[in-house]
Amino acid sequence: MSRIEDAMEKLAGDTGVEKPPVKVPGESEKPPKRPAPRSPAKDDVDRHIVAFHQPLSGLTENFKHIRIVIQNMLPEGSNKVVMFTSAHRGEGKTMASLNFAAAVAHDTSRRIIIVDGDMRDPHIHEALGIKAQRGFGDLLTTDAPATSAIVHTPIPGLSAILCGERPERPAELLGTERARQIFADLKRQFDMVIVDTPPVLPVSDTVNMANFADGVIIIVEEAKTSRKKVERAVHLLNNANASVMGFLLNKSQGGGDEYDKSRYSYSRSSA
Ligand SMILES: Nc1ncnc2c1ncn2[C@@H]1O[C@H](COP(=O)(O)OP(=O)(O)OP(=O)(O)O)[C@@H](O)[C@H]1O
Ligand SMILES: [Mg+2]
Repeated sequence: MSRIEDAMEKLAGDTGVEKPPVKVPGESEKPPKRPAPRSPAKDDVDRHIVAFHQPLSGLTENFKHIRIVIQNMLPEGSNKVVMFTSAHRGEGKTMASLNFAAAVAHDTSRRIIIVDGDMRDPHIHEALGIKAQRGFGDLLTTDAPATSAIVHTPIPGLSAILCGERPERPAELLGTERARQIFADLKRQFDMVIVDTPPVLPVSDTVNMANFADGVIIIVEEAKTSRKKVERAVHLLNNANASVMGFLLNKSQGGGDEYDKSRYSYSRSSA
C-alpha cells in the first residue's frame, strides 16, 4: 500500500468517516448501477390488440387482409408513413392503428414502428403497457435524433415512439420542418411508420402533419358519424395536400362492444 493510501486508511479509521474510493490511474470509473428496466410483458398489452393476442382469430385475418389492400395501394418504392385518423374522437383510431401495426409486424422481416401523434390524448403507451423517457413531443421540441425516442414493444417486430412530454401547442409543432424531418428520418430506418393521430374536426394537428404521410386512412364509426362530417374531414385533408387513401369502417358488422367479434371493412377513397 502506498504511503498516501496508508495515511487515508488511518484517517478514515480515526474519524469513523467512510473511506473514500482510491482512484487507480488508468482505471475508468464505473457508472452507478441502476435497476434494470422491466421488460414489457404480454399481459400488459391491451386485450383489444387482437392481432397480437389472438393471431389466428377472424379479426386478425381481417386486419391482415386490410394490410394487403393498403400496402398494394401505397405508391411503389421506398418506405412509407401511414396515418390513421377520424372525423371525431373515439371512433377507434388507436385500436385500429395498433391492430394494423401488429398485423403488419407479423411479417417479421419488415421493420415497423408506431408513433403516438395524438398529443391531446395519447394512449399508445397505455395500450402497449410501456413507458419511455422520451417521445414524439420531446423530439419536436429538441434536436434529439429520432433514435433516442425509439422503444421496443411487447409485439415482436414492432417498435414505438410514445407521446413523451406533451408540448403546449402541438398543432403548430406538427406542421414544422422539424416534424417533416422526424418522419423522413424514421422512413429511412423503418419499412413502415404507422401514426396514430387526433381527430380531424376538433383540432388542426392532423391536418398540419397529414402532408408528411404517404397515405391517410380515415376510421369511421359507421353507426355514429354522419356522412357530412366524414366529407368535411376529407375536404380539410385534401386541402392540406394529404393523400387520403380510404376509409376503415369500424363496428360496421355487429360485434357490439365485443372487440374480438368486430369486423372492419375497408373502402377506397374516390377523391
Ligand atoms: N370495433 C370495436 N368494437 C368494440 N369496441 C371498440 C371497437 N373499436 C374501438 N373500440 C373501443 O372504443 C374505445 C375508443 O377506441 P380508440 O381509443 O381506439 O378510439 P380513438 O379514435 O383512438 O379515440 P380518441 O379519439 O379518444 O383517441 C376504446 O375503448 C376501444 O376499445
Ligand atoms: Mg386514440
